[in-house]
Amino acid sequence: MLGMLNSAAAGATTVLITGADRGLGLEFVRQYAARGEAVIATCRTPAQATQLTALAQLNAAISIETLDVSRDGDIRELAAKYRGRPIDILINNAGITGRKADNTLGSFSREGFNEVMNTNVYGALALSEALLDNITASRQKKIIALTSGAGMIRVLPRMPLIPMNYSVSKAALNLAMRALGIELGSRGVIVGLVGPGSVDTDMYASAQADYKFAFKPIARAESIHGLIGAIDLMDQARAGQGVNNYDGSIGAW
Ligand SMILES: NC(=O)c1ccc[n+]([C@@H]2O[C@H](COP(=O)([O-])OP(=O)(O)OC[C@H]3O[C@@H](n4cnc5c(N)ncnc54)[C@H](OP(=O)(O)O)[C@@H]3O)[C@@H](O)[C@H]2O)c1
Repeated sequence: MLGMLNSAAAGATTVLITGADRGLGLEFVRQYAARGEAVIATCRTPAQATQLTALAQLNAAISIETLDVSRDGDIRELAAKYRGRPIDILINNAGITGRKADNTLGSFSREGFNEVMNTNVYGALALSEALLDNITASRQKKIIALTSGAGMIRVLPRMPLIPMNYSVSKAALNLAMRALGIELGSRGVIVGLVGPGSVDTDMYASAQADYKFAFKPIARAESIHGLIGAIDLMDQARAGQGVNNYDGSIGAW
């Protein structure tokens, strides 16, 4: 924590990442920390986050915080702890697909739908709202969210099976973030959607098994290197054009 405050005082960029204990979130931590940024790495259960803890032990600019984005109490506590601390980039990365049955026509469940929407959409909105003062006080003022081709209507015909709740949640996330960006534009806040591609993570592996995804996955390091580049370049114009993809392209949402 002390190292991080020093980094902040020295003018390093501060990045807060949700779902930072594995997958794309962990890779964001690794790459942002490697280039010298101060990283607030949040996850649901720090005690089980062995890889993240190992990274933080090697780099004092990484601090680990507890955050379940579906819990208002966690969001409130985190915001209170960081009150007054500028946060340049908030990365809303945490996400779930939900159980296959809940996503499948014939066995939809309201509870399953709500769980995915609550995590993937409201979690990002609530955290963005709670940290808004931190973001507006920073130099970069960026709110980022990870979206998916599964939430794009033009991609759906190419999917053998559609994870209904997940797809709906990412389409809703796109609209929510775009609406937030339009509302916050006059305050200099940039709200951008980024597309990681199909990436070799736990989520991809289970989606491939459950939904027969045929998209060939790329490595996490490649995806996140590209996404960090896209976030560096993100401005109001690029945020307004569509999804800023890891490969530098901008696609319609
Ligand atoms: N991988 C892909 O091909 C791909 C493609 C498009 C978009 N995305 C998006 O990229 C993001 C990261 O995906 P991934 O592939 O890295 O998935 P992953 O390997 O399944 O990791 C998901 C992360 O989200 C966290 N999480 C889930 N629910 C949470 C909650 N309520 N509060 C806080 N954290 C929570 C998980 O924490 P726990 O360890 O505690 O479960 C984990 O850290 C997601 O938003 C996903 O939709 C991924």
